[in-house]
Amino acid sequence: MKKEIIIFVLCIAFFKGYTQEYCPIIPLPEKIEKSKENFALNRNTVIVFEDEQIKRIGDYLQSELLRSVQITLSTSNKKAASEIVLSYSKAVPNVIGAYKLAFTKNKVTISGRDNEGLFNGVISFLQLASSAKKANNIINIVGWQITDQPQYNWRGLMLDESRHFFGKKKVKQTLDWMAFYKLNRFHWHLTDQHGWRVEIKQYPKLTTVGGIGNYSNENAAANYYTQEEIKEIVSYAAERFIQVIPEIDMPGHASAANRAYPEFSGGGSKQFPEFTFNPGKELTYQYLTNILRETDVMFPSQMIHIGGDEVHYGNEKWNTDGDIKQLMEKEKLSDLKAVENYFFKRMADSLLLIGNKVLAWDEVAESNLPKNETIVFWWRHNKPEQLQKSLDKGFSVVLSPRSPMYFDYKQDSLQVHGPNWKKFSLNSTENVYHFNPEKIPVVFPKNNLVLGIQANVWTERIVTEQRLDYMMYPRIAALAEAAWTKNSNRNYAQFILRLKDQFPLYKKSGLYYFDLTKPDLTGEPKE
Ligand code: ACM
Repeated sequence: MKKEIIIFVLCIAFFKGYTQEYCPIIPLPEKIEKSKENFALNRNTVIVFEDEQIKRIGDYLQSELLRSVQITLSTSNKKAASEIVLSYSKAVPNVIGAYKLAFTKNKVTISGRDNEGLFNGVISFLQLASSAKKANNIINIVGWQITDQPQYNWRGLMLDESRHFFGKKKVKQTLDWMAFYKLNRFHWHLTDQHGWRVEIKQYPKLTTVGGIGNYSNENAAANYYTQEEIKEIVSYAAERFIQVIPEIDMPGHASAANRAYPEFSGGGSKQFPEFTFNPGKELTYQYLTNILRETDVMFPSQMIHIGGDEVHYGNEKWNTDGDIKQLMEKEKLSDLKAVENYFFKRMADSLLLIGNKVLAWDEVAESNLPKNETIVFWWRHNKPEQLQKSLDKGFSVVLSPRSPMYFDYKQDSLQVHGPNWKKFSLNSTENVYHFNPEKIPVVFPKNNLVLGIQANVWTERIVTEQRLDYMMYPRIAALAEAAWTKNSNRNYAQFILRLKDQFPLYKKSGLYYFDLTKPDLTGEPKE
């Protein structure tokens, strides 16, 4: 009798070990079915790769399993009794990043047409493993049959390290979480008024002088990334199938550079002194082209974002500058906006010569940049005409409207710090989650020029890592699902169930996240 009870309890425990009401993956995959069989991951399981090229993805799976569930597996190109097989397959949808995941009792198969798809499959498997129950060094992973593909190929996050500098460790952690949520474009805002953060060997003062200060303290010691550090971060991102896009903001937001090399300044305004580069001087183009050339060598994405935003904040001096007046006469430029467009065209020519696409904020919608080489970032949600103009011109676009895609904005009505876009709603996790490009009248019906979506983390009011975490997590998870999962498959209430399962992972990672399920805002870190 006693023995029967023990067996009964063991059966229940075993059954419970494998129960899972819903597939816990974020972003939610396109097609999911419960598998008939589950998989007991154990120390004898082998990661099998069928092709040497896949090995590095197998190695990533190996190290992440060790980190997340403390189990060490070996890798091999030979079959094993218990195995996780990584392989290329034509059965996977022919879409960049698509993958399939299948379970039997002794075998998990992760397949992709390409490495990016395989990596995404590995990430889904890692998410299943990290939410699984563990007993006696066996991880009981509930089996799912998954066929998955992204809605958008551009799933981006921008971090501003000019206003406040967070450093290599925090950036790597951000890349880890981006990878965990299949976000694949890291837009790195490296230059602005408050600090120049990327070493340019030809112009060392950009960092030794321009790197001094930040938004809260103009005398803070110089903080910046050396070229070696940049390369390290770019390759760390590449291991996670994330492309890194640097932003060198011009011709506005240039005050830090102008502190270092005032000879290229185009002046500013009372509120924004020395805000611009001088578009009237030929030497400015040489200087900036040299900077872009060095930047290009560090970033293999072949995309450089040249900003282009808010030039009118500080181009008052352009009205009276002799060189600019001469340029306007010579090139028949009727006003300052025409000067700005002339500047963009010149810088675009430099970028194209070095094989880079031209990326810029939506101020360039009026310019005549080459349509197949330009990507416009729509940020002014209250100016849909900028998006319309960009699409009419044939520019590709990334959608990062302030509402709801600026993560420095408030996420809850009780939140004390941080901006809130007047009459627009909060940038809550829910609003981020429901962001649907097809609801923007300009975009619908689905427009192939829309590459995807991106959230931007501006850091004027984010001084500490704690506050950075608080503003990014969990909104980053909602961003990921909005970018990856079709609207028809999204369900916020169900997302919240999966999101709650993430909180212990955030805790384990030491992240200071915002628990939106318990809106006690006494924990809000100060600006
Ligand atoms: C921006 O927020 N100035 C692009």
